[in-house]
Amino acid sequence: MKIGIANDHAGVEYKKKLVKMLETRGIEVVSFGTDTADSVDYPDYAHALALAVEKGEVDKGIALCGTGNGMAITLNKHQGIRAGLAWGTAIGKLVAQHNNANVLVLPARFVSYAVASATVRAWLDTPFEGGRHQKRIDKIPCK
Ligand code: RB5
Repeated sequence: MKIGIANDHAGVEYKKKLVKMLETRGIEVVSFGTDTADSVDYPDYAHALALAVEKGEVDKGIALCGTGNGMAITLNKHQGIRAGLAWGTAIGKLVAQHNNANVLVLPARFVSYAVASATVRAWLDTPFEGGRHQKRIDKIPCK
């Protein structure tokens, strides 16, 4: 499993910790984020991650910004991306189970690291349910 991770300055500290957590699970991580606290623009990193997921260069993605919304809005402009915002394990599971989100977005300024990390694990460990949810996902792309 290879995961891409994108972040702006608001997500940099959680990104660094998440990379370590993922690597201890044997997951290869490709970072598309900034590595410093200097102010940057989240779309620059969101688009890079989205393209890597769409091209199959990584299997899934994680994105972090302050609210999560800038990343989610940008990522979901890409037809091949289903980016889901989650802020706890229940939503982390559901965004995998129901939405088959190929990118998990975290609001770094609104959750503790413990919650962010648990949300990532819940999303990763939960399979997509398919069935009626697949039918709904098939209706998402703009025609
Ligand atoms: C950065 O200050 C902040 O605007 C950004 O991290 C994010 O919350 C945008 O949606």
